[in-house]
Amino acid sequence: MGTTPRAEPNLLGFRVNHRTMRADTRRLAELLDRVAGGELTYDRRRATALRTYLGLLCDGIHHHHQTEDDVLWPVLERSAGGEVDLRDLSADHAALDPVLDEVRAGADELVAVLASGAPDQGRARTVAGRLAATLARLSDFLDTHIEQEERLLFPVIRRHVSVADWNSVERAVRRGGSIRFELPRLERYAEPAELAELRAIAGPVLRVLLAVMRPGFRRREAAVFGD
Ligand SMILES: [Fe+2]
Repeated sequence: MGTTPRAEPNLLGFRVNHRTMRADTRRLAELLDRVAGGELTYDRRRATALRTYLGLLCDGIHHHHQTEDDVLWPVLERSAGGEVDLRDLSADHAALDPVLDEVRAGADELVAVLASGAPDQGRARTVAGRLAATLARLSDFLDTHIEQEERLLFPVIRRHVSVADWNSVERAVRRGGSIRFELPRLERYAEPAELAELRAIAGPVLRVLLAVMRPGFRRREAAVFGD
């Protein structure tokens, strides 16, 4: 007698979300390197746009990992208790917040330097260099942490977590984030086939939301990254 294969949670949204955090942090570290090197000149308006962007990025990274602690970890303990050891990953999560605070403080400092009547561009480049180093550190940290998390947890989630539990984790991740910031970035970092699958899962609402949110995000992005 055959058995019906068990439905597995779909990890695509999480995988693209992880990639977005990693790639965008790396991209921002490289951007700040160019500002530090004098290749790109920042003024008050652009520094303010960067501060908002980095604030949203840090909020998103914090929220994602907080939701893993609060919602995903209990699901894993209930579904696969003996099979996972979450101590290393939890320690990483605790180490993340001080780095995010450093990023926010660096962005505040850059705005403060460029907000004065006659901004000192040399000082702005020094502050940008420090912020670039902090972002590079955050980026390295996310690369290592997320690779480990996906390697250790994704097979366990596929094997042991029910689709209903997984969907509740995904809902919790979505609930706390800024959809106007997160959704257009998912579109940017998803592969075409992944985007098609996400569209098929979410239905027409995703296409509509992206159409509404894309222009504002592109303007925000141009203010931060444009030459
Ligand atoms: Fe994590």
